[in-house]
Amino acid sequence: MTKSDFLVIGSGIAGLSFALKAADYGSVVIITKKTDSESSTNYAQGGIACALGDDDSKEHHIADTLSAGDGLCREDVVTAVVNEGPDMIRQLVEWGCRFTKKENGGFSLGREGGHSRNRIIHTDDLTGREIEGALLERVMEHPNITGLENHIAVDLLTEHNLGVITKPRAVSCFGAYALDEATGKVETYMSGTTILATGGVGQVYLHTTNPGIATGDGIAMAFRAGAKVGNLEFMQFHPTSFLLPDGTSFLISEAVRGYGGVLVSRSGQRLMENHPMKDLAPRDIVARTIDHYLKSSGEDRVYLDVTGFDSDATKKRFPHIYETCLKYNIDITKDPIPVVPSAHYMCGGVVTDLNGRTTISNLYAAGEVALTGLHGANRLASNSLLEAVVMAERAAKMVAEKRQLTSELPDIPDWNERGTFNPEEWVIISHDRNNIRNLMWDLVGIVRSDFRLRRAMNRIELIREEVGKYYRRTKLSHGLIELRNMAICAWLIVKSARHRKESRGLHYNTDYPERDDAVWRHDTFIQNEEILA
Ligand code: FAD
Ligand code: SIN
Repeated sequence: MTKSDFLVIGSGIAGLSFALKAADYGSVVIITKKTDSESSTNYAQGGIACALGDDDSKEHHIADTLSAGDGLCREDVVTAVVNEGPDMIRQLVEWGCRFTKKENGGFSLGREGGHSRNRIIHTDDLTGREIEGALLERVMEHPNITGLENHIAVDLLTEHNLGVITKPRAVSCFGAYALDEATGKVETYMSGTTILATGGVGQVYLHTTNPGIATGDGIAMAFRAGAKVGNLEFMQFHPTSFLLPDGTSFLISEAVRGYGGVLVSRSGQRLMENHPMKDLAPRDIVARTIDHYLKSSGEDRVYLDVTGFDSDATKKRFPHIYETCLKYNIDITKDPIPVVPSAHYMCGGVVTDLNGRTTISNLYAAGEVALTGLHGANRLASNSLLEAVVMAERAAKMVAEKRQLTSELPDIPDWNERGTFNPEEWVIISHDRNNIRNLMWDLVGIVRSDFRLRRAMNRIELIREEVGKYYRRTKLSHGLIELRNMAICAWLIVKSARHRKESRGLHYNTDYPERDDAVWRHDTFIQNEEILA
């Protein structure tokens, strides 16, 4: 058993920045399920939104965020995150992030969809790698922080593990069980404060820009422990990803459209010509336009065209995209890039307050796993890295004031694997994983209908039940832990999508094509299997 003041689950921007702040107040253990840098953060391209331009203001950034969020943003959260942005950029620079500068020394500010001004701070098209690398360096040299790679959290420790039945409001978190993949043993990690920083859930969809780690573990663990989760119908599809031969999707940053790139059909017809913001319309609109075009034309891709620009300038601005596409025989300075939409970002998650507190005592959440209220029904591009770092800082300030002491922790029994067997059929795990990803893509994608959602629910309920049974009798493995979490998250997404009988932001249902503020201008909360009224 390991005991620490703070247990951080996840080593992306949210987990690492929280750890660096919390380490001033006590011992920190970070557990992360793969190598330490493997996270969505590491793959972020476009950058971090922050109103620093001469023609920009916090008011403009707030207005753009609210407009994208389509009536569901929490204004106090939007104001706090935008206001605290410049300090966070300074903090990231202090931690060692080198953002691209203009010749006059100021930050180079990119543009992305839904933004009325240039305000995306970036490091070429490899912003995430720069941030992840700098934060990891600081974490590794910090004497109060211990990082454990290849440790996958299984479940949160609560009164449930003591055999005490509590009302949802009275649940507290004492840490987590985690599988150490080197030893194959499940260890107990006790902590005064636990923070979920486990990122997103894009892997429940067949096509996603997200790395393999994005299996919704934090949402599923919090839900099982009795936390309130919400707005899971709002999965953001990025309009432009490049499908690679192995079936994975490589993101083509929205910054490419900010640079001047345009979406065209195979015959060169412009697709976003009729929208007032043209190719820089908000993501939900661009993704739906492409989806509609693909379904009505029978084509399997559209094209993003930057061929009209100076080729050296394009290579300098997007070195990573240029190199990656070239490996697949696309020279972006000469050839339009074939693109399709892919699942990209979960706007919903574990409900938190403005200081990262979940509905479970001593359990915090920050980053993509959390539902803070910033994004509403549709996230504005490049607001997520900003949200993660602001909310991690707020959570760290909160725990400095208020936290459970490790001396007050109860005795939690060790993990008990009696009655479980080594998996008889590995193939079940990969089959079920593929089934979930296919059904979510086919039935719960960019455009939904009651018929499709009903079919999805029938299927996912069956899979969830079967996976649950298999889980209970099988010795734990990385794949099994993820599969169980994916089944729960897919079920939560379908349940939320079925509940919302309107179209708003990222949730579009052909049976209810209009936004209905009178009835539906509120979040969709689920706790203990039920939708909260
Ligand atoms: P992550 O960075 O995903 O980190 C999650 C961590 O949790 C990982 O270390 C993972 O291994 C660990 N983990 C998960 N489950 C467990 C478990 N059970 N046990 C232990 N560890 C676990 N946003 C922007 O604002 N700007 C951008 O330019 C941008 N570009 C993007 C490009 C791509 C390709 C993608 C996929 C996303 C992009 N986003 C962007 C979104 C943004 O990158 C993510 O929302 C953000 O990085 C999430 O940070 P995080 O710390 O919450 O999670
Ligand atoms: C991108 O670079 O297009 C991704 C930005 C984001 O998801 O915020």
